[in-house]
Amino acid sequence: MFGRRSNDPSAPRPAIPQQPVGAPVPAEPQRAATPAPRAAPAAPPAPARVDPIEQTRRHSEEYYDVKTSVFNALIDTIDLTQLAKLEAAAAREEIRDIVGEIIQLKNVVMSIAEQEELLEDICNDVLGYGPLEPLLARDDIADIMVNGAGTTFIEVNGKVQKTGVRFADNAQLMNICQRIVSQVGRRVDESSPICDARLPDGSRVNVIAPPLAIDGPALTIRKFKKDRLKLEQLVQFGSITPDAKAILEVIGRVRCNILISGGTGSGKTTLLNCMTGSIDADERIITCEDSAELQLQQPHVVRLETRPPNLEGEGEITMRDLVKNCLRMRPERIIVGEVRGPEAFDLLQAMNTGHDGSMGTLHSNSPREAISRLESMIMMGGYSLPTRTIREMIVGSIDIIIQASRLRDGSRKITHITEVVGMEGDVVTLQNLIVFEITGEDANGKIIGRHRSTGIARPRFWERAEYYNETEKLSQALANSEVLDAMGRTMGEANA
Ligand SMILES: Nc1ncnc2c1ncn2[C@@H]1O[C@H](COP(=O)(O)OP(=O)(O)OP(=O)(O)O)[C@@H](O)[C@H]1O
Ligand SMILES: [Mg+2]
Repeated sequence: MFGRRSNDPSAPRPAIPQQPVGAPVPAEPQRAATPAPRAAPAAPPAPARVDPIEQTRRHSEEYYDVKTSVFNALIDTIDLTQLAKLEAAAAREEIRDIVGEIIQLKNVVMSIAEQEELLEDICNDVLGYGPLEPLLARDDIADIMVNGAGTTFIEVNGKVQKTGVRFADNAQLMNICQRIVSQVGRRVDESSPICDARLPDGSRVNVIAPPLAIDGPALTIRKFKKDRLKLEQLVQFGSITPDAKAILEVIGRVRCNILISGGTGSGKTTLLNCMTGSIDADERIITCEDSAELQLQQPHVVRLETRPPNLEGEGEITMRDLVKNCLRMRPERIIVGEVRGPEAFDLLQAMNTGHDGSMGTLHSNSPREAISRLESMIMMGGYSLPTRTIREMIVGSIDIIIQASRLRDGSRKITHITEVVGMEGDVVTLQNLIVFEITGEDANGKIIGRHRSTGIARPRFWERAEYYNETEKLSQALANSEVLDAMGRTMGEANA
């Protein structure tokens, strides 16, 4: 068979197939006292569909022992480099055949359904990402967090939950991490224990290995959403109102400089993606990211990605290098996936010097905090500018801050659409256009709240809206949004 080791005498001997078929191997663990029929693996009936997470939870230590022994025998038998040349389906078929034979030779007694599970598991280990496969196949999972071989958490519908998924040991987990990162030409081991990578489907991956991670390798995956969320869906989910959506569309279209602020996993990148939806098709857009996540639909996009240093500590390309280089690429809009360091200065400069309509995201918990985070990033860059100058620069560059939040019930909301208006003395003044107000919590712990307008009829970007002929849409959206008075009541409530 194609995937097996060749007859080259120097190659390790294929131990298993040389044994007579059916010969018992007493040292191997037995699954049950009564012998079960040994089905040919080629045509087993399809087992009933079980939730893979639940399924993994049920497996006993014995199952893992059997799996390890079958797996080791398989690795001795097949030639992995030959196998890698096969199409995925053919390779799977090949493995199924050989594993079927090994199970017979080892006299392992298991039901057809168990055998099918074992086959699936082993195929995943050899060809894919092992125990991660069932999790990767599920579209409803947002994050996968593996904390060492024994513990895996996932995030579903905004809630983090523990799964029964586990790896045989840390070595297997490390192997899978290595397989993932080597696909993008990187490596992770004790000497370079931190690594960012991407799965072929676009999911973002971070690995941190021992000795930095004390309890075994920690693997974090932000799953790529095939159907990327659009503003329309954010409205359906209740993250924003239809009127706030219209305001965001105008903001994107009229080339305001936008900062999207939010905590970890609050939906910043998703929102940034949505905001790029209002960019015209004829604009030249350059995106800079640590790990390419954005999915722009426009035809004229150049995507750039940072690079970590190599083993000798050389060759690093930082976000700052990318943003600086962007300026020589005749960009019309610059989009920075995440601003987290001195590149803040270069982005603000770009925004200030004719690349309006640029966008970026930043980790922070409120629009006000976003301003001070920007300020400290610029200071960290080693610029000895007076605070006031930095603030003036921020005011001159950023037009709008959009705040994304993940609330304690797991729902994600856009909690602020805020304008940067100017300076009062040394303080940057902000003006909320839309805010999300929490009013309570229902019996199921779900947060109840409302998006409200603050009653600003003429935002600072009104002139831009005029220039782009968007004033009608803007004034309608602002007028339709419910208005809060100074006491936080709607005008209707205040008059009653
Ligand atoms: N409004 C929303 N409603 C429901 N799910 C959302 C919403 N926004 C984002 N998500 C989902 O939440 C997850 C995290 O989103 P996203 O990657 O945009 O967060 P982030 O703030 O960029 O995270 P990080 O800080 O890790 O970069 C994704 O799976 C995304 O599909
Ligand atoms: Mg992000």
